[in-house]
Amino acid sequence: MSKKRAENDIMDRLVSLCKRRGFIFQSSEIYGGLNSCWDYGPMGVELKRNLRDYWWKAMTHERDDIEGVDAAILMHPSVWVTSGHVAGFTDPLVDCKACKLRFRADQIEGTGCPSCGGELTEPRQFNLMFKTFMGPVEGDAAIVYLRPETAQGIYVNFLNVLAPSRQKIPFGIAQIGKAFRNEISPGNFIFRSREFEQMEMQYFVNPKDDQQWFEYWKEQRYAWYLALGIKQDNLRFHEHGPNELAHYAKAAFDIEYNFPFGWKELEGIHNRTDFDLSRHREATNVDLSYFEESTHERFVPYIIETSAGVDRTLLVCLADGYREEEVRGEKRVVLGLSPKIAPIKVAVFPLVNRDGMPELARKVYADLQKCFKCFYDDKSAVGRRYRRMDEVGTPYCVTIDSQSLTDQTVTIRERDSMEQIRVAIDQLVNILREKIV
Ligand code: GAP
Repeated sequence: MSKKRAENDIMDRLVSLCKRRGFIFQSSEIYGGLNSCWDYGPMGVELKRNLRDYWWKAMTHERDDIEGVDAAILMHPSVWVTSGHVAGFTDPLVDCKACKLRFRADQIEGTGCPSCGGELTEPRQFNLMFKTFMGPVEGDAAIVYLRPETAQGIYVNFLNVLAPSRQKIPFGIAQIGKAFRNEISPGNFIFRSREFEQMEMQYFVNPKDDQQWFEYWKEQRYAWYLALGIKQDNLRFHEHGPNELAHYAKAAFDIEYNFPFGWKELEGIHNRTDFDLSRHREATNVDLSYFEESTHERFVPYIIETSAGVDRTLLVCLADGYREEEVRGEKRVVLGLSPKIAPIKVAVFPLVNRDGMPELARKVYADLQKCFKCFYDDKSAVGRRYRRMDEVGTPYCVTIDSQSLTDQTVTIRERDSMEQIRVAIDQLVNILREKIV
């Protein structure tokens, strides 16, 4: 099989697994689908929530120097003029004169249409922001934008957070939320969509310390993916050259992942200098500078930004964890997700549906449910039940068998090694908590 076909094959299998097992569906599917928008099903929504929580915990709860916000998606339209998005958040677009398909000019090799070979128009700049109208009148004065990044909601709240939190520089503000971009060429499943979610953190620093904090955040964010269980061989840094740097950035590194369709950006770490706060200060006349009491300096803070996509990270977890194995002559599909983010942490099975096993299993299940997202299954042979759980990444399966009825013990079966240990029911929560959290 060619490399390209094998790559497509893995993506096809992942997409099919996501549909079949309730992770991700195409938006508005019964209407034929809405291109590049995705809905998360019962498994997907748990996985996504766990991923967000894992980021939030690492970035805010486990630190004293980062506060959270949740800003509105709709912002004053002038924000996007000041930020440079109205003028500059564009991609060069070309149309095929023959088949009418549109492409990003910078992604085309050669001069003709990639689809039919037809003649292409001259490139023109296409703004990626979605526009809508606020209030009942649809005119230019009522235009508002769906935010294309969550970062601006942090900058405009710099003073609002600084005062009540009594933080001192260096400190950060974190936010998770939806962002929208009218991408010219969305694709690769949830890798590039038009509605997606970002997890962004803006760290405000003294300008003379910017390099040190930039290096610090590069390391921290890379380590976060490793702690999430992503294979190190599939991660690398890519430094932006002068032609790649965004209009606001002095330096930028992407953390890239080796997706089935190649190395691509997963997260950006940017030194945005004082660009954002200075521009907002100029535009509003609100003083966004900071007074450093220890040195009596006044400065506009520099910002080190870490900007990750929730959906893209979720795709990384799926792609990195997906594997097919042969076990005793049978194929098993495993999603090797970290227990920290697995949608279901523990499945509970009675070995058979009689002799008092279901009753005890239900009791064990009810106790575990108070601590973890669990799943109860008493249908089909136990081997098949294990396989179904492997496929959605459930790290532990607890089985109640005939011995359980006599000595109040159960087995815990681990997803990757398939090894089983026997433990006392009254120890189960503690043992599982240690393995999962
Ligand atoms: N505030 C800076 C910023 O937004 P970006 O590199 O444009 O930087 C950051 O985006 C991250 O957001 C990307 O690394 C990616 O994970 C995610 N992202 C961007 N556009 C996306 C899209 N169309 N679909 C899914 N995720 C996207």
